[in-house]
Amino acid sequence: MIRFMLNGEIVTVEGAAPTVTLLDWLRETRGLTGTKEGCNEGDCGACTVTVSTLDDTGVTHQALNACILFLPQLAGKALRTVEGIAAPDGELHPVQDAMVAEHGSQCGFCTPGFVMSMYTAHRTGRVDHDDVLAGNLCRCTGYAPIVRAAQRAASRPVPAWEIDERAMLEALALSGDMSGEGLHLPGSTASLAAIYAAHPNATIVAGATDVGLWVTKQFRPVGPVIFTHRVGDLARIERVQGGLRIGAGVTLSRLRGAMADRHPDFAELIRRYGSVQVRNAATIGGNIANGSPIGDGPPALIALGAELTLRHGEDRRRMPLEDFFLDYGKQDRMPGEFVESIFVPDQEDTLACYKLSKRFDQDISAVCGCFALHMDGDVVAGARIAFGGMAGTPKRAHAAEAALTGQVLSAQAVRDAQDALTQDFQPLSDMRASAAYRMQAARNMIRRYWLERVEGVPTRLVGPKSETGVA
Ligand SMILES: Cc1cc2nc3c(=O)[nH]c(=O)nc-3n(C[C@H](O)[C@H](O)[C@H](O)COP(=O)(O)OP(=O)(O)OC[C@H]3O[C@@H](n4cnc5c(N)ncnc54)[C@H](O)[C@@H]3O)c2cc1C
Ligand code: FES
Ligand code: FES
Repeated sequence: MIRFMLNGEIVTVEGAAPTVTLLDWLRETRGLTGTKEGCNEGDCGACTVTVSTLDDTGVTHQALNACILFLPQLAGKALRTVEGIAAPDGELHPVQDAMVAEHGSQCGFCTPGFVMSMYTAHRTGRVDHDDVLAGNLCRCTGYAPIVRAAQRAASRPVPAWEIDERAMLEALALSGDMSGEGLHLPGSTASLAAIYAAHPNATIVAGATDVGLWVTKQFRPVGPVIFTHRVGDLARIERVQGGLRIGAGVTLSRLRGAMADRHPDFAELIRRYGSVQVRNAATIGGNIANGSPIGDGPPALIALGAELTLRHGEDRRRMPLEDFFLDYGKQDRMPGEFVESIFVPDQEDTLACYKLSKRFDQDISAVCGCFALHMDGDVVAGARIAFGGMAGTPKRAHAAEAALTGQVLSAQAVRDAQDALTQDFQPLSDMRASAAYRMQAARNMIRRYWLERVEGVPTRLVGPKSETGVA
């Protein structure tokens, strides 16, 4: 049995399959068809809803894609759909009103999703409209009127009819473990460890931004399912001796915040990770555990010298993150063992991250290169360089690192490191890029690092190191 709040009312769902998506449930069971199905894979934002959660920091409101959110992930939370944001007497919410005033809708298919992204931003005071709306696609209106609507709404206060969900969320608060038919919702890491050790064939679901697609696109049976979103300590970021301990359940949105001061380039890389909706769901543990060669988290973390803690029952083992990735689709993880946390050591070296994708926002990398060079004056005293998209796994560029180490960072050293890349990688051709393109792109990233960090040439269109500084 799952209980959550839907547009201000508590609902109880019994007997739903663990992997029924929120979108299907809303449309087919509740008849709430305002939430649209566009892509059914997290790309278009037509299914955006707002989910409010109570945690140690208070109530947080987040935009999420309902098409790749499983119903059990809502347990104990408050959900708002496009049907639930106007006043009880029908007065439009400021974002709806602004969409009308600015002519922000034509065919209207994308509109509920845009409205819900704007509603969430309005409620939380976010005004970085381009970023907030990057996960919502519109094929007919064009984005300018929609962004103007978001700007117009931002000048109006949160309406008086907006309720504070805190009391209801407190009433819905869950404790201990929950389980059902083919479904486990552990309430602590210890329970997660025990349940997974006992059911090693179960599928762990964290943010479901990968597993959601296995269900909606590949129609893969994934049960039994162990959801990790209720495991509070898995979602913790802690300062420990020598660095940061990041729980595997930390979302990319929160990781971006944690990296903003220490490693702004990592934070900027995460800004281009999917969309707001995807980053609010996706976890860094899922991004590592899926072993994808084009995941954006691993190259940055490997360059930073991160270490992984894996847990099986009461047993833990720790390893450099790069050692976790054995081969394409093969990670050093035993049945029943899960990623518990990632340790990111403190270090003075600044991290540079370059993501190359076909589309700037909301796209997976063709190549992602991350550089942490330790400089002694002009000389490279040590280098950690990692690439995604260049091999079957995220991988360090040892030969390129060796070519740079001990050298003055000059045009010649850069050329040597570029040439050394052929020893490090034999990339593949696929739909994202050809092998030759990937190699050229990786070579260019080394040169770009030198141009940007040594020669002071701006190499970015937007973001902190761009000529304009516009984020
Ligand atoms: C529209 C869209 C855009 C995307 N854009 C990007 C992008 O720009 N960059 C990028 O890198 N990725 C991107 N992704 C991929 C995806 O978001 C990431 O791989 C994500 O981090 C997966 O995390 P999750 O929590 O959603 O994992 P889930 O889908 O819940 O799980 C993924 C896999 O990891 C396993 N797993 C999860 N947590 C653990 C754990 N603690 N221990 C062991 N196993 C675990 C699951 O069993 C499953 O095999 C995108 C996905 C979508 C749908
Ligand atoms: S339907 Fe496209 S993101 Fe959900
Ligand atoms: S108004 Fe038609 S897709 Fe946006």
